[in-house]
Amino acid sequence: MKSDPFVKLIAGISLAFALPWIFIVILPFIANSNLEALPYAEGEEVEGGVTAYPDKAFYRHGSSDYGRQIYAAEGCAYCHTQVVRPTYAGPDMWRPGWGGREADGLARETQARDYMLETVAPLGYQRIGPDLSNVGHRITTPELMHQHLSDPKSLDYNSGMPAYMHLYEESPYGEGLVPTEKAEALVDYLLSLKKDQPVPSRG
Ligand code: HEC
Repeated sequence: MKSDPFVKLIAGISLAFALPWIFIVILPFIANSNLEALPYAEGEEVEGGVTAYPDKAFYRHGSSDYGRQIYAAEGCAYCHTQVVRPTYAGPDMWRPGWGGREADGLARETQARDYMLETVAPLGYQRIGPDLSNVGHRITTPELMHQHLSDPKSLDYNSGMPAYMHLYEESPYGEGLVPTEKAEALVDYLLSLKKDQPVPSRG
C-alpha cells in the first residue's frame, strides 16, 4: 500500500520540530541540570578563600540578591545580555573587557557553571547596550555605577541608556539626589557581576 502523503507531511513537520527541540533544549538540559561545583587542586586556590568554582566568596555580597530582582523588574535584560559567546558564535571576546580581566590573562567565555549560584539567569536576548557579564570588573566603584544609572548622559552624551531617575530621590538634607534602597541593591548586584572566575584545571 502506498503511504498517505498527508501522513508523510505531518510526520515530516513533527520531525523537523522534534529534532532541534531534542538537541537544542532536552539534551543540554539533561547534561547541565546536575552540575556540581569543582574544587581547585592544591596550590591552585584563588585569593580570598575561594576554594571551588563557582564559590560565593568570589562574588561580592551586599544586597545583590535583592538587586537581581530589581534588575529583572526594571527590564534591564531587554537591552543587556549576560553571556559572553564563544568566538565561533560571535566577536564577544574581541570587545574590551567583555570576557573579564584581560590584563591578568583571565578573560574567558561564559560557561554553564557561571550561572549555578543564580536562581534565575537573566541571559537577555538582544544587545542595545553592552554585555554585563563582567561589568563588576569594568566599573568598580559604587559612585560610578550610580552615575551610569542616574545620569548616563553625563558620561557619554550620545548614550542610549535610559536614566533611572525613579530609583533616586531628593535628599531631605540638601545633598542633591541620593540612591533609594533599590538603587543601592541594584548597584551591589552590578558590582557582583564577574563571570570570569578561574576554572580549575581538571574542569
Ligand atoms: C533601552 C535600552 C537600555 C535599557 C532598558 C537599559 N540599558 Fe543600560 N545601557 C544601554 C546602552 C545603549 C548603554 C551604552 C551606553 C552607556 O554606557 O551609557 C548602556 C550602558 C549600561 C552600563 C555601562 C556598561 C559599560 O560597560 O560601560 C550599565 C552598568 C548599565 N547600562 C546598566 C543597566 C541597568 C542596571 C539597567 C536596568 C535598570 C539598564 N542598563 C537598562 C541601554 C539600556
